Amino acid sequence: MPKNKEIALSRKLFPKEFVWGAATAAYQIEGAVNKDGRSPSIWDVFSHTPGKTFQGETGDIAADHYHRYKEDVKLMRELGLNGYRFSISWPRIIPEGKGAVNSKGLDFYDKLVDELLANGIEPFVTLYHWDLPQVLQEQGGWKERATSQIFVEYADVVTRRLGDRVKAWITLNEPWVSAVTGHITGEHAPGETDIIAGVRVGHHLMLAHGLALPVIRQNMTRKDAEVGITLSTTYVEPGDDSTEAKDLALLVDVISNRLFLDPIFKGHYPKELPENFLLPMLPLEPGDLEIISRPVDFLGINYYFRTLPLNVEDFTTYKIRQYQPPESQFTAMGWEVYPDGLYQILKRVHQEYFPGKLYITENGAAFEDVLEESSSGPVVHDAERQEYLSQHLQAALKAVQKEIPLAGYFAWTLYDNFEWAFGTDKRFGLVYLDYPTQRRIIKDSGRWYSRFLQG
Ligand code: FCB
Repeated sequence: MPKNKEIALSRKLFPKEFVWGAATAAYQIEGAVNKDGRSPSIWDVFSHTPGKTFQGETGDIAADHYHRYKEDVKLMRELGLNGYRFSISWPRIIPEGKGAVNSKGLDFYDKLVDELLANGIEPFVTLYHWDLPQVLQEQGGWKERATSQIFVEYADVVTRRLGDRVKAWITLNEPWVSAVTGHITGEHAPGETDIIAGVRVGHHLMLAHGLALPVIRQNMTRKDAEVGITLSTTYVEPGDDSTEAKDLALLVDVISNRLFLDPIFKGHYPKELPENFLLPMLPLEPGDLEIISRPVDFLGINYYFRTLPLNVEDFTTYKIRQYQPPESQFTAMGWEVYPDGLYQILKRVHQEYFPGKLYITENGAAFEDVLEESSSGPVVHDAERQEYLSQHLQAALKAVQKEIPLAGYFAWTLYDNFEWAFGTDKRFGLVYLDYPTQRRIIKDSGRWYSRFLQG
């Protein structure tokens, strides 16, 4: 069996221009939080607040990428990547949130982009991956409509500087998680637990995305440049045959997947949302939906797991009881491994929303990795992650073969990093990070990916 799989899965079966990458995010890898004029982001404040993260860990050092970016680009090249998705830290670029530009911050990304291009790696740049400057949070953050416009100024500064070289711009990473996990469940920065705040934040993020699009377009002077957005997705099926589970599955799908797909691609919030739920809280103004539904060049899909709702535990914090199939495998995050869900999501998004072009901007798994010494040096035998990757690439291949316009795959993540509230406890990397020494050790999964890429 595995033999057949290996034969079936070949890079050659994907389009020639397919982008093969890995993804990261600024706060998860950069460290150097006080360097060269960077100001604190909401994640600095949150992670330094007792009780918010695993063992009180912070991103103060993380993978020290700010100092080691050259070594890291070399690593990407060694793996054989031809794409790299990273995010820009807003508080490095505009430490006061708005106004004065910190040229040292821009210089860092300028050098990174050049280093990537010199190594044949296409830069895919996310403008916002959750690290709002804390000064803006103190003025209400994304709850305030003004923040959407301030984001446009930041996007303008960055794209003006890098727009001649960056292949793809991603306005936002997973606005759903910013809104819900940051403002309703409180598990992420800024740690609020207020449904009204969450709804306002979600809408203002959508608005920021739409407002920024024409500005980014104007600044992206590279001929083949593209702009889009990355959304979180999950494949939803009822946890059992009950009417309760079936109804709930529809609702969870609306909330988890369609809440932002509908406004972006259809120009309205999901019509299936129950009356008097979420919609009355929206700070919607005339013209907003036209702005939000401006055309994008691609949609970035982040896919990790399937959701099997059974019943509601607590709707105000979006806690849903789920069925856990006994035959299924679960990752260290407790997420079900369900590769066909990736194919189902790609198919559905293609058929219902016609984004024109799709990238898988994140996909990967955390497992309990063990660093071992061997005669040839340190090794990490992460067979489960390798299998996860291989199965999800099979699903991606199926999508390509069914003529779904999938143009790239970015594994989450290049190396182990600061996994938000889970700190260094959850490892998703293709490369193992030995935090005390900052040594990067390619895991078996990384070697497998690299062999796959090198044919
Ligand atoms: C996604 C995030 C990414 C990482 C992975 C595991 O939701 O975009 O930063 O945390 O999950």
